[in-house]
Amino acid sequence: MMIKPNPFTPQSGWEPRIFGGRDDEVSLFKSTLDDAISIRPNHLVVLGEWGIGKTSLLKQFRRIAQENGYPACFCSISRFTEKSKPLDAIYLIAEEMLTGFPRLGMDSERFLNLFSKKKSFLQAQTQFTKFLLELWEALDAKLAVVLLDDLQNILPVSSTIDILRAVLSKDEIIHNTRFLFILSSTPAGWSDFLDKHNPVGRFFRKRLNVGNLNKDDVINTVDKTLEDTGVDFNGLVKERIFEYTDGHPYEVQLLSSHLYDGQIERMVSPDTWDSALNNTLKELGKDYFQSLFSKASDRERELLKILAEEKRPLSIKDFRTMMIVGKYAKKFPIANIKNFLYRLDEKRIIKRDAAGNFDMQDRMFREFILRFGEEVRHEG
Ligand SMILES: Nc1ncnc2c1ncn2[C@@H]1O[C@H](COP(=O)(O)OP(=O)(O)OP(=O)(O)O)[C@@H](O)[C@H]1O
Ligand SMILES: [Mg+2]
Repeated sequence: MMIKPNPFTPQSGWEPRIFGGRDDEVSLFKSTLDDAISIRPNHLVVLGEWGIGKTSLLKQFRRIAQENGYPACFCSISRFTEKSKPLDAIYLIAEEMLTGFPRLGMDSERFLNLFSKKKSFLQAQTQFTKFLLELWEALDAKLAVVLLDDLQNILPVSSTIDILRAVLSKDEIIHNTRFLFILSSTPAGWSDFLDKHNPVGRFFRKRLNVGNLNKDDVINTVDKTLEDTGVDFNGLVKERIFEYTDGHPYEVQLLSSHLYDGQIERMVSPDTWDSALNNTLKELGKDYFQSLFSKASDRERELLKILAEEKRPLSIKDFRTMMIVGKYAKKFPIANIKNFLYRLDEKRIIKRDAAGNFDMQDRMFREFILRFGEEVRHEG
C-alpha cells in the first residue's frame, strides 16, 4: 500500500479528520437543544483561546443540530473597524445566515431588501427583528440554530451585540420564533461585556469554556487519524506529543503533521522528534509566539528566559534569590522583579497560580524561548 498524504490538519478553521474528545461539550450542546425545544432557547457563549478548537466545535454542533432535524447555519464574522456601523455588522450576519441555511440562499434578495441603507442604531434593531420574523416563516422548522464564530472581531462595533441582545429579548421574537444562538469568542474579547456590567453579559449567561484535550483524547485522536494511512507513530512519540502540547488541539495537529512528514519506512520514531519539534516551533513562532514574546520588554524577557530554563513554577522570592546568587546573579536590580512579573502576568505571557507562583502559559512557548529567544531579540 502507498503511504497516504498527511492526514493532519494544522490550520486555523480546518476541521480535524478525527474530532477528538469534547464529550462534555457535546452533551451540553445536546441538552441545550432539548431545552430549546421543551422550554425555550438559552443562548450559549463558547469561550476559548487561539487554536483551542472553537470553530471545529461549532461546526460539530451544526452537524448535531442538523442530524436532529433542526436547520443550522454557521457564520464566521470577519474583522470590523471602528468606522463600521452596527447596521454593517448586522447586515453581514444576515447575509451569512441566508447563505448558511440550506435553501434560503435563492431567496436572499427578498430578505436583504428588508434592510435600508440608512444606518442608525434603532433601524438596525427593527430591521433585524423583521428579518428574523420573516426568516422564521421561511424556515418552517421547530428550532433553528445560528452559530456565530469569532465574535471578538465585531468588538470595534460592540453595539452590534447589544442589538442582538435587544432583538432576541423582544416579546415578538420570543413568542413567534425559536432561534438558538451559539456565539464564540476569545475570553479577552468577551470580558469587555462582563467588566462593564453590560446587559449583554447578563443576557448571554450560559457559557462554555473550551480547554485542551486530555491525554487519552490526544492519543486516541492521533491513532485514529493515522488509521489507514500506512504510517505509525512509536508509543513514546505519542506520549511526548501530549507532554509537549498539553493537549492543545492546534499544537497537536501541527506537531503530528511534522512528525508524519518525518516517517522512515512508515514509522515515526523518537529520532524524528527533534527536527519535527523544531519545525513546529518555527511555525508557532510565526503564528503567535513571536508576537507574544515581543510584548515583553528586555528586562521582562530576562525573567522569561529564567522561567523557561528552570522548567518549574517560581515565586517572587525564588526569582529574587536567584538574582542574588548563582548563574543569574546581578542581571538587574531585584527591587523591580515583582513589577515585571505582574506585568508579564497582566499581558498573559505568563500565569500565576493560586499559591502565587509564576509559570509559562504554554510548554511549547517555553521550548520556543529556549530555542529561539535570542534570535527574536536580535531581530526585534
Ligand atoms: N476536537 C478536536 N480534535 C482534534 N483536532 C482538533 C479538534 N478541535 C480542533 N482541532 C484542530 O485544532 C486546530 C484549531 O482548531 P480551530 O480552528 O477549530 O480552533 P479555533 O479555536 O477556532 O482557532 P482560532 O483561534 O484560529 O479561531 C485545527 O487544526 C483543528 O483541526
Ligand atoms: Mg476559529
